[in-house]
Amino acid sequence: METHGVRLTRIRNLALLLAALSFLIVLISAYIRLSGAGLGCDGWPDCYGQLLVGGPHPHVGAVRILHRVTASFSLLLAFYTAWHCIRPDPIQPAARCATALLALMILLTFVGIWSADPHRAWAGFINILGGTVLVLLSWRTVLAAGPEHAAATPRRSSALLHAGLGLLALTIALGALIGARYAAIACPTLPGCGDAAWPAATGWSALNPFASVATATALGDDGGVALHLLHRYCALTTLLLLGIGGLQALAHGTARASAGLMLALLLVQFALGVLTVMSGFSLGLAVAHGVCATALLAAGMQVLVRVKAAPA
Ligand code: HEM
Repeated sequence: METHGVRLTRIRNLALLLAALSFLIVLISAYIRLSGAGLGCDGWPDCYGQLLVGGPHPHVGAVRILHRVTASFSLLLAFYTAWHCIRPDPIQPAARCATALLALMILLTFVGIWSADPHRAWAGFINILGGTVLVLLSWRTVLAAGPEHAAATPRRSSALLHAGLGLLALTIALGALIGARYAAIACPTLPGCGDAAWPAATGWSALNPFASVATATALGDDGGVALHLLHRYCALTTLLLLGIGGLQALAHGTARASAGLMLALLLVQFALGVLTVMSGFSLGLAVAHGVCATALLAAGMQVLVRVKAAPA
C-alpha cells in the first residue's frame, strides 16, 4: 500500500498536469471565441460579430479538434485525480478541491452543448468564467497536495489581498460580459468612452448575462459603454488594492516569490487591456489579455495561501 507521502506526490503531479491542460483549454477557447467574434477580421469593424447574423465562421477546424481532445482527456484525468484523493481514505483539502474541479468540468461539458449558439450570452459568459475557475481549482489542488497545505491552520489574514482578489474576480466577470455580448467595439477610445466617463442609466441592463444577443453592440451603445467603463474602473481599483496587498506580501519570506509573480502579472494584465484597445482590438493581444487574467487569479490565490501559512 502507498504511503501518505507517495500518495500526495502522485496527486500533486496529476494536479500539475491538470493545471497545464486547463491553461491550454483557456488559451484555445479564447482563440476560438475571439476569432469567431471577428477580432482582427478583414473589413474591421464591419465584420465584427458577423457570426451572429449568419456570416462565415473563420476556419478553426484543427483548433476545435485540439480543444475537444484536450478537454476530454482533462475530464478523464480529473476523474482519476479525484478518485486518488478520495480512495482509500480522503486526503483533505486536496479531495475537496479535486472533487469541485471534476464537478465544474462536468458542468462545462453540458454548457458546451449550448455555447455553439453565439446568441446565448450566458453560455459564453459561463465558459469564460468556468475556464478561469478550472485553472484556479487545479492549481489549488497542486498547493493542497504540497507543503502549502499547512495552510489548513491559517495563521495570518490579509484584508487587502481578499478585497483585491474579490475585485479581480469582478473585473474578470465584467470582461467576460464584454466578450460574451460582442461589445468590444462599443468603446474603442481611452481613457473613457468618447465623452462618457460613467454609465448612462439605460446602460446598466447590459449587466444581465441572460439576455439574448442579436447583433454585435454598436459604437457608443449605452450598454456596451457601461460594461467597458465598469471593467476599467474595477481594473483600476484591482490594480490599487491587489498591488498594495502584493507589496505587503513581499515582506513574508514564504510568499515573496509568489507575490513578485502576481505583481508582475497584474502590471502585464493591465497593460494588455490598454494595448488591446489602442491596437483597435488585435486578436493576439485580446487572447493574451484573457489568458493572463487566468494566470493572475491563480497567482493571487497562491499568494493568499502562502501569506496565511506564514509564521505570525
Ligand atoms: C486587472 C485588470 C484586468 C483584468 C483582470 C481583465 C480581465 C478581462 C477578461 C477576463 C476579459 C475577457 C476576455 C475574453 O473574452 O476571453 C477582458 C476583456 C476585455 N478587457 Fe480587460 N481586464 C483588465 C483590465 C483591462 C483594462 C485596463 C482595459 C482597457 C483599458 C481592458 C480592456 C478589455 C477589453 C476591451 C476587453 C474585451 C475583449 C473582447 O473580449 O472582445 N481590460 N478583460
